[in-house]
Amino acid sequence: MKKVMLVFGTRPEAIKMCPLVNELKKRKSIQTLVCVTGQHREMLDQVLKTFDVVPDFDLSIMKKSQTLFDITTAILEKIKSVLQEAKPDIVLVHGDTSTTFVTALACFYMQIPVGHVEAGLRTYNIYSPYPEEFNRQAVSIISKYNFAPTEFAAEHLVKEGKEKDSIYITGNTVIDAMKHTVTNDYTHPELEWVGDDKLIFITAHRRENLGEPMHHMFRAIRRVLEEHPECKAVYPIHMNPIVRKAADEELGDCKQIHIIEPIEVVDCHNFEARCFLCLTDSGGIQEEVPSYGKPVLVMRDTTERPEGVLAGTLKLVGTSEENIYKSFKELIENEDAYNAMARACNPYGDGFACKRIADVLEFGKYAPWVAK
Ligand code: UD1
Ligand code: UDP
Repeated sequence: MKKVMLVFGTRPEAIKMCPLVNELKKRKSIQTLVCVTGQHREMLDQVLKTFDVVPDFDLSIMKKSQTLFDITTAILEKIKSVLQEAKPDIVLVHGDTSTTFVTALACFYMQIPVGHVEAGLRTYNIYSPYPEEFNRQAVSIISKYNFAPTEFAAEHLVKEGKEKDSIYITGNTVIDAMKHTVTNDYTHPELEWVGDDKLIFITAHRRENLGEPMHHMFRAIRRVLEEHPECKAVYPIHMNPIVRKAADEELGDCKQIHIIEPIEVVDCHNFEARCFLCLTDSGGIQEEVPSYGKPVLVMRDTTERPEGVLAGTLKLVGTSEENIYKSFKELIENEDAYNAMARACNPYGDGFACKRIADVLEFGKYAPWVAK
């Protein structure tokens, strides 16, 4: 029996790994173990509950306003004994967080093979996104199995010299989860508040945007909302206290925006499916919203998800107040500009990524996904 351990710690990793946990648990020749680092606490637990995943190990490392040093040292120190005790044949990590990088590093020190889920995303600027671009590149040096969500991502790995037979194009596991979340009869008090007005869906949290860039983002959003009473914004806010303070200072007394606690992923997908447009600096949301055919203004200078930009549903608008203001306003006021972006496309998968990854781990082969 092969022992596969999945290690994750933040909300987006959990959203993309829990469907894989549940797929692996169905496989007879695999013993599935879950270790969470607890890099996020409340936001992680919310997802574990949704997917009914109970971790076998929990490092519980989160502290308020943690630094990269805090996260790195706490995980490295605590995960050693878990790996020694569980003795996994392979460890799966996801994406590009500090949990991902530090876990891969620990596995390297202990010579445990690493499988990287969502491998090959790149901006090639190690300060943007920060520290994620470094994290994912570093994991690629260590990883034995590379599960690339798209052909683009796989090409990066090939160009970087990874063995071709270590790369599997699977689609993104988040698309698997999306098959079951959006329903026609979904309701929510916030959607009732928006009524027939235009729902503007907002999220923001990136480390490199904390401080001035985030203030610019919020000011731009406020200006457009105040010029357009037919718009109502819902912003499920990240638990980072720095984000909360900036949002409160810039948007706290704006009647057209509801800043609410983090919502469950099922709610999040249903809000995305019903919004008029989305403003975000999140990675995962750039993958989800295109399949609902809603324009996404990405408040960042770089993206590792060019597939959605090429398809026309994502637009990189940077973090300057003027740029965000102009792009947001244009989509509200110019129907042609809006329609040009509001096209459903699904460059990130067909909903069978978890099955493919599990097939590789169980049988050593899989039926790859080819983007149409
Ligand atoms: C982390 C990841 C980032 C990912 C993001 C997803 C790193 C370095 N960053 O960034 O790649 O995009 O998660 O959201 O790995 N907090 C809570 N409760 C929670 C979660 C967070 O209180 O459930 C607060 C804590 O004060 C914490 C702070 O938010 O210190 C920041 O969390 P942290 O994991 O350090 O960074 P993120 O910005 O969330
Ligand atoms: N999400 C959620 N609740 C929220 C906000 C986001 O469930 O209140 C989901 C969203 O659907 C996506 C993921 O969280 O799947 C994105 O996570 P986040 O923006 O925290 O991180 P990133 O993707 O930028 O790493």
